[in-house]
Amino acid sequence: MILRVEQIVKEYRIAGVKRRVLDGIDMLLTAGQICSITGTSGCGKTTFLNVIAGIASPDGGSVYINDRRMIYVLDFLSSRRRNREIGFIFQTFRLLNDESVISNVLLPARIRGRVNSEIRERADEILERLKIYKYRKTRAAVLSGGQKQRVAIARALVNHPALILADEPTANLDRKTSREIFDILLGLKEEGKAVLLVTHDQFMHDESDLLYIMENGRLRCLV
Ligand SMILES: Nc1ncnc2c1ncn2[C@@H]1O[C@H](COP(=O)(O)OP(=O)(O)OP(=O)(O)O)[C@@H](O)[C@H]1O
Ligand SMILES: [Mg+2]
Repeated sequence: MILRVEQIVKEYRIAGVKRRVLDGIDMLLTAGQICSITGTSGCGKTTFLNVIAGIASPDGGSVYINDRRMIYVLDFLSSRRRNREIGFIFQTFRLLNDESVISNVLLPARIRGRVNSEIRERADEILERLKIYKYRKTRAAVLSGGQKQRVAIARALVNHPALILADEPTANLDRKTSREIFDILLGLKEEGKAVLLVTHDQFMHDESDLLYIMENGRLRCLV
């Protein structure tokens, strides 16, 4: 199992009032599956992805990636492990705007301390596959939204993670570009990766293997 989530609880204190944003969430995701989550704004979708990615720590429950339990301490080894095993595509692209496309894509490998010729070749291959190779030396700031999202996807792939988390990856894109981005995610699923996606797009819901709606801190299975 690539992802196993057991009874995750997360509370935030908002204006002095404690709110249980995630209230006992379970999930299983295996290789070659794509799972969509939907739900109203503020219901906790990003929080859930952040907990899986180790960006936020849960107040209860466990997350297992590749059958190994995630440890939520800010130490070097656990962040290295996340960097290797998880690719995160953020709700906003979060690129380094003043850096080139290739420099953005190589960032997770640089964090891993592994930028050698093999990684550079792989980064170039990913850029070609995502049809942005010709922009590899371009500053990220000047790209269109669809191009930025491709760079963000390329960056998420450079370390060959088994699990891809994508937080509304097409929220700011037109229909045709959204279709293209989703096709890239479907390609990753075909390759045997597990993809967990937050989206409001109906066509992505229809084409996912699993579909959940988040309500009152819980996930309800729709498909
Ligand atoms: N770091 C934080 N500190 C305090 N409260 C937070 C924090 N992150 C999120 N929250 C609160 O948790 C709730 C869920 O936020 P979250 O971003 O997970 O929602 P979402 O479902 O992703 O919404 P959207 O669809 O608008 O992206 C919100 O009420 C938010 O204010
Ligand atoms: Mg969100």
